[in-house]
Amino acid sequence: MEYLCIEGGVPLQGSVETCGAKNAVVAMLPAAVLAGDQCMLGNVPSIKDVSILQEILANLGASVTLDKRRKTLSLDTTNLCRIRATSPAVRRLRASYYFLGALLGRFGEAEVSLPGGCEIGTRPIDQHLKGMRLLGAEIVNEGGVLHAKAKKLVGADILLDMASVGATINLMLCACRAQGLTVIKGAAKEPHVVDTANFLNSMGASIKGAGTDTIRIHGVQQMHGSQYNVIPDQIEAGTLMIAAAATKGDVLVRGVIPPHMEALSIKLVEMGATVEEEEAGCLRVRGCAQPRATDVQTRPYPGFPTDMQQPLMAMMCTAKGTSKVEETIYEQRFKHTTELGRMGADIQLMSNRLALVHGVEKLTGTYVEATDLRAGAAMVIAGLMAEGITHIANVHYIDRGYECIEEKLISLGARIRRVNEDESEQA
Ligand code: EPU
Repeated sequence: MEYLCIEGGVPLQGSVETCGAKNAVVAMLPAAVLAGDQCMLGNVPSIKDVSILQEILANLGASVTLDKRRKTLSLDTTNLCRIRATSPAVRRLRASYYFLGALLGRFGEAEVSLPGGCEIGTRPIDQHLKGMRLLGAEIVNEGGVLHAKAKKLVGADILLDMASVGATINLMLCACRAQGLTVIKGAAKEPHVVDTANFLNSMGASIKGAGTDTIRIHGVQQMHGSQYNVIPDQIEAGTLMIAAAATKGDVLVRGVIPPHMEALSIKLVEMGATVEEEEAGCLRVRGCAQPRATDVQTRPYPGFPTDMQQPLMAMMCTAKGTSKVEETIYEQRFKHTTELGRMGADIQLMSNRLALVHGVEKLTGTYVEATDLRAGAAMVIAGLMAEGITHIANVHYIDRGYECIEEKLISLGARIRRVNEDESEQA
């Protein structure tokens, strides 16, 4: 097993480039099924979730090549002929649910295993299925495989009961090829929803209103290939910004879209850090000597993102005063609190949704684990802040969503290395 081994206490300094958005690219790979043609995606991060999706697409009959150096991914779905995505890879990530919408849109039929992903709550997909049924699909679950079939997909009015990112994107995929107009009300407004809609439009779809809570999709008979650049990853950028502030460092995070970072920037400033847009697409983050506590409530965009809740909590651990963290999106996104506790944090869990973080003087390095992707990011930040050495197990969770996390942090002066179990025992 691999560990990340961090010797904490170094203020991060320098500049670092953000990579393409995981939650956009994991929707775009399945979306390319609709093209039935060649697509070229730019700014594609080399993360585990992308390689799993490559494997699923190859199993369906597409050809996919990732050029890691150029960060481009070429995809040809012309000869993609299978409608069944049930390999173990499908159950290893969340975004495999997008094959349901994409295959249904292209072939009127799909068989897709229920998705996997981080264990942060029950994560039902009832809104996806409700919307697809309204578009004319019949869907049954047979032993964990969803069989969806539509004689004809016809546009419909769909009201989402919650602003679900996954349901909004999946229904856009399916509705692209439905006959007539589909209106999704109560849609999610996250930047990756907008980016996916833009990618679909570049392939010939007709989607308007993405980024607002009402999206209108006029179905088209044919779509085609395209070249498209993925937007920068809001969550990776945010993780680096928190790492800079939490280590009392001074870092220029390049390649960001500052409006996407607003909720986090406001919280970092409330905690005493300085966040400035130094030049277009660059945010300079400087930490302060003694961060102050703050309160956070996770919300759909443009509110404070749930994916940033865990990393920011690491910084709250040594802030002066008590921070209140309310998780409104997921029922179980506090598993990192136990791990932070091992490092000396004083976190009071009031419920599955509410934590009080009482600031302590310092965190101390020890053996901890990443319990999910963003919990892993939280442990990395805690390790960078801590006195002594922190060993983080279950690095594979972190690799799902962060490209070469240790390389980027080393470039900022962090003392971090990846070791296998045997080496770590010797350390
Ligand atoms: N929900 C339902 N029914 C549905 C869909 C969602 O009850 O049909 C609930 C969920 O259980 C959750 C809430 O609605 O409580 C929001 O879920 P959403 O559908 O927005 O989340 P998701 O599509 O499963 C994506 C990202 C997550 C990110 C959330 C929220 C992907 C692959 N995943 O998940 O990313 O936290 O949106 O922004 O895009 C991560 O990157 O670490 C991650 C977990």
